[in-house]
Amino acid sequence: MVGLKGSRGSGTEMLLHNEAPPGSLEARDLACLLHPTTNLRQHHQQGPTVMTEARGIYVKDNQGNQYIEGMAGLWCTALGYGEEELIKVAEKQMRELCYSQLFAGRSNEPSILLAEKIQSMVPIEKGRVFFGLSGSDANDTQIKLMWYYNNLVGRPEKKKIISRQRGYHGVTMGSGSLTGLQPFHTNFDLPLTGILHTDAAYHYRGAKPGESELQYSSRLAANLERLILSEGPETVAAFIAEPVMGAGGVYTPPEGYFEQVQAVLDKYEVFFIDDEVICGFGRTGKPFGADTYNIKPTTMSMAKALSSAYLPISAVVVPEFMYEVLIEGSDQAGTFGHGYTYSGHPVCAAVALRNLELMEEREIIAHVERVSGVFLERLHALKEHDLVGDTRGVGLIGAVELVQDKTSKQAFSVDQGIGAYCTNCCESRGLIVRNLGDSIAFCPPLIINEDQIHEVFDKFSAALSDVAKFVASI
Ligand SMILES: Cc1ncc(COP(=O)(O)O)c(C=O)c1O
Repeated sequence: MVGLKGSRGSGTEMLLHNEAPPGSLEARDLACLLHPTTNLRQHHQQGPTVMTEARGIYVKDNQGNQYIEGMAGLWCTALGYGEEELIKVAEKQMRELCYSQLFAGRSNEPSILLAEKIQSMVPIEKGRVFFGLSGSDANDTQIKLMWYYNNLVGRPEKKKIISRQRGYHGVTMGSGSLTGLQPFHTNFDLPLTGILHTDAAYHYRGAKPGESELQYSSRLAANLERLILSEGPETVAAFIAEPVMGAGGVYTPPEGYFEQVQAVLDKYEVFFIDDEVICGFGRTGKPFGADTYNIKPTTMSMAKALSSAYLPISAVVVPEFMYEVLIEGSDQAGTFGHGYTYSGHPVCAAVALRNLELMEEREIIAHVERVSGVFLERLHALKEHDLVGDTRGVGLIGAVELVQDKTSKQAFSVDQGIGAYCTNCCESRGLIVRNLGDSIAFCPPLIINEDQIHEVFDKFSAALSDVAKFVASI
């Protein structure tokens, strides 16, 4: 517990003791911003890194340091930075029609064309596309649609949503509840009632000794079934999953996992919400994670690579049978009472559409499939290193998990902060990666070429030697 006004002393003034010169952007940041998803105390001690420009896969800070953006920002800058085609299309759309809504039957061409494009790509026939601005709002929409739908079809009890421990689905009230990570719940009074969490699909730490991936998948599917039965299948509306769990630590699903989970869901008429916010649009080497893992989603959420993060936009896709029910519901209530001022923002939609067209013209997904060979080879080769317990990856997403002892899988203690130390070493060597605990994630822009992939792993290997020296010294 902290004091009533939150401070342990005399407010944030006392925290402004990093080296930032007065008047610098760094000092001004510390005086005015509340940073999202940041250890705020550490931030005041370490100060910000202020980014100023970026091209391709490289970004620069205001001290003149250049980095490879090995995380594509927050898993999102798929086509890389400074893409003139997207800049041009945004400018043109701003001049023609800078804003238009989709409420009350108004529409705009970019939204129609983008919805058609998404419809043609997803594994949901005649899917209807609802636009938002973030992955979080997309997943909130998903929860609301499940509730709305089940009320309208006379199943008012069927409302619970099952997510997974270590899953990440956003931070709003609903999506933050779906997220299965403790910092997103503690002191926020989340998760909301009716949001449940089943096992993470994390074979390295979750499997019993000698348990194969397939056996592990069967056990998780059986646990899921037990949870559905103990809650009562008539109360469970949906299951939500990322094809590859991202922000929770980058876990590729174990063999047979989605097939077995899907069989359980089908048995109890539980819908599958496929959260493609990271995996969508080529990250796994196919258009969607659902294509890579043979998932048959009921509905889908997407964002991030949809616009390569040039502008914020998200989409939820629902099947026709749900849409028909929404028509009824909206007629009963007088309107379909859900939507945002910026749903179908024409500039965001125009940029997203051009982004998807460029991906097609440049055959980005085939490129990912091709270069992922080198990416995964370099990633998995790290398993030889004394500090690396596990490596996981598919397409152009991966992680290495650092451990104190490979044989026993003993982790470092949290307060040693080895993951964070490792990412600092990477940054000193000009590589941005992200530590999720002691798992270090890689998720470069999809345009990365083979030489640049080698550059990423050469820098990472050098940083790992720095970490090994540090570990030997403690
Ligand atoms: C799988 C997944 N879903 C949802 C979200 C939330 O997206 P946003 O940060 O745009 O709200 C994220 C963000 O990283 C994500 O990885």
